[in-house]
Amino acid sequence: MRRQPVEALAEAPLLWAGMAALAAAIFAVDTLTDIDIAVAVLYVAVVLISVRTGRAGAVTLVGGSCGGLTILSFFLSRHGAPTTGLANCAISLLAIGITTTLAIRIGAAAEATRQAEARLAHMARVTTMGELAASIAHEVSQPLAAIAAHGSAAQRWLAAAPPNRDEARHALERVVADAGRAGEVIARLRRLVMRRPPSHDPVDLGEVIAETVTIVRSEVRRHHAVLRTEVDAGLPPVIGDRIQLQQVVLNLLVNAVEAIGAAEGEPRELQVAAATDGRTVTVSVRDCGIGVPPAALDRMFEAFYTTKPTGMGMGLAISRSIVEAHGGTVYVAPNLPRGAVFGFVLPLRPEG
Ligand SMILES: Nc1ncnc2c1ncn2[C@@H]1O[C@H](COP(=O)(O)OP(=O)(O)OP(=O)(O)O)[C@@H](O)[C@H]1O
Ligand SMILES: [Mg+2]
Repeated sequence: MRRQPVEALAEAPLLWAGMAALAAAIFAVDTLTDIDIAVAVLYVAVVLISVRTGRAGAVTLVGGSCGGLTILSFFLSRHGAPTTGLANCAISLLAIGITTTLAIRIGAAAEATRQAEARLAHMARVTTMGELAASIAHEVSQPLAAIAAHGSAAQRWLAAAPPNRDEARHALERVVADAGRAGEVIARLRRLVMRRPPSHDPVDLGEVIAETVTIVRSEVRRHHAVLRTEVDAGLPPVIGDRIQLQQVVLNLLVNAVEAIGAAEGEPRELQVAAATDGRTVTVSVRDCGIGVPPAALDRMFEAFYTTKPTGMGMGLAISRSIVEAHGGTVYVAPNLPRGAVFGFVLPLRPEG
């Protein structure tokens, strides 16, 4: 019972005036009449009203004043039998005392509830911040790695004898492009976490896939895998945020490459496809990697779910948030004869 809500502060003078008027009326009836009932018991109403001040001190003050008025009235009262008056006075004091104690406890419980609510709200904000931090760390690590690789390539071209300025310039152009992408990714993620709607531009998913494939090409080669792309001819554009959708394709492709990297033997194939049925576009990433145990299928898209020693478990969670913000759905299924298919379906004409 420490903090007062703003409304309580605003209505405080009115509240005190009301309580004073009621107490005065009770005092007058109690002192001036010779009714054989404990009129002073009505002071409990004043005590209960005082709970609205939100302060334990105020409730104690009101309770004490009501008790004092009851005693004063007993001595001022010249009517009625003294024993009845004494009994009525005692009953009233008991009622006022009990009500005051209970009112203070109720107020303390209400304050504890309010504090618990505030703590919960704070925790929800911290969780959102934690997820934002984890998402940024996850999504920015790829462009940062690319920046480092292109930067050292530029250094090598410049250190060569004679220095190859053209190649160095190309490498530096890629550094600038990747730095721009990292900045865009952060801006898009912030928008996603703040629950702002994504951009509404026509996005050619065929182009997005082609660009993303170039990003993972060297990793595919490193794992001795082959990556095929199959995009429906005349695939219509979807409406959405190009950078966010590229992040989804990139996350699915990186997982597919990692799954094949963890698998032994043949075949070492990956396929990324985009197809339409006229109402929706489906993008699927198929791999012949280690596959997904059926029991884990439901948990794949949960934040922080990972089976990798250095994984964050954020890639699929971010992807699902992005796809759902675009009015679409994500899915996972086993691939035959081995591996997994992860994909998403987007409506061609999003609702609203
Ligand atoms: N293509 C796949 N084949 C098999 N398992 C997969 C595949 N894609 C995802 N998974 C499983 O889903 C889990 C969650 O994937 P997610 O991308 O969210 O996180 P991660 O890859 O573990 O870590 P990071 O946050 O760094 O991406 C993975 O740890 C893995 O167990
Ligand atoms: Mg991943």
